[in-house]
Amino acid sequence: MEQNQNNPYIKDFPILFRTVNSNRLTYLDNAATTQKPTAVIAALTDFYTQHNANVHRGIHTLSEEATDMYESAREKIAQFIGAPTSSEIIFTSGSTESLNLVVAGWAANNLVSNDVVVLNSTDHHSNLVAWQMLAKTLDLKLKYLSVDANGELDLVQLKTYLNEGNVKVVSTSHISNVLGTVNNIKEICKLAHAVGAKVVVDGAQAVSHIPVNVQSLDCDFYAFSGHKMFGPMGIGVLFGKRSLLENTNPIKFGGGMISTVGLESSTWATIPERFEGGTPSVADAIGLGAAVDYINNIGLEKIVAHESSLNAYLIPKLNSIKGLHILGSADFTKRAGLVSFYVDGIHSHDVASVLSTVGVAVRSGHHCAMPLHKGMSIASSTRASYHIYNTYADMDALVNGINTAIKILG
Ligand SMILES: Cc1ncc(COP(=O)(O)O)c(C=O)c1O
Repeated sequence: MEQNQNNPYIKDFPILFRTVNSNRLTYLDNAATTQKPTAVIAALTDFYTQHNANVHRGIHTLSEEATDMYESAREKIAQFIGAPTSSEIIFTSGSTESLNLVVAGWAANNLVSNDVVVLNSTDHHSNLVAWQMLAKTLDLKLKYLSVDANGELDLVQLKTYLNEGNVKVVSTSHISNVLGTVNNIKEICKLAHAVGAKVVVDGAQAVSHIPVNVQSLDCDFYAFSGHKMFGPMGIGVLFGKRSLLENTNPIKFGGGMISTVGLESSTWATIPERFEGGTPSVADAIGLGAAVDYINNIGLEKIVAHESSLNAYLIPKLNSIKGLHILGSADFTKRAGLVSFYVDGIHSHDVASVLSTVGVAVRSGHHCAMPLHKGMSIASSTRASYHIYNTYADMDALVNGINTAIKILG
């Protein structure tokens, strides 16, 4: 594929044609949120201009259309991640809510005092904090896996933890949002399942970057966000194995999630409605369905190859900048399409701010991974994260911008 401005996907993203501070926009903050293609924007407009109605409740034509579109988005997403049935796809507001549903809905109902949850310091706060809260309430034990200099989880230590007993859950990201490491979820599931522990996967940085098949991974829960995969903000997904979802309490109570309501107690609707109390984000779910179509039309293999060629182009250039340190694996074939780094003597916010003046959007700070940064004895880092519309020219703009920052601030 063309790695320069002839990249055929740029034209699908109207926002990429705006300027920022009189420069062409170089958007390298895709791990925070991706831009939206015209096809997704058109799906939202089509819903609101032609079909807008609430779902599951009306028998008028618009409501039936909206319900069909909403459920067909669920079906598409189930196929996209290889879920056995669409009823195992729960619409949430994003990865954070999906993980909270696992913790507050399933784990709170199934774990007891002294049970162990295995986490690791590369996890995003939305995975760590929810478990910490439950650990306080139920008196659970949290154990953390070590991470080596290449960002790889220590699976020998995982075996030790599993053999020590009482491990009920291993919860981890699929791809680290700071290090770009792709964790071996299949192996983690195999090890955890051998002692009856469940595996919860935070796939926020994986879906749309690598092929994900929840059946072949054999994970128990898988969470992800629509807005990080070309879809709208405010919509996300939790996949759960049916037997576990059957044993999960709803965490949002109200209309749409009940079967019967009495004055003293109520019974719940079947899965997935049980977990979708209130009016769902119908247009956004449909927009996410359009994002899945968009990704399928490109092909995930093409996305993987594109991101790895950007890594191969960028990482040696970054490595040659004096005083710049890349976090995670030096082997760019082992990373997903993002790179975090720090520059000696310059705060990450200052690097990002100089980059912004030349139109380059990157993220700086702790990226919701404070324990990871603390473990590496740094306060923060700057992160460039890419997707299908990024080019070698974007990488050059980044490298030139970093050199300018060093010249001004170094
Ligand atoms: C690995 C990871 N997990 C979870 C999240 C939270 O996603 P959201 O804010 O869409 O709920 C993010 C967002 O940056 C992430 O990178």
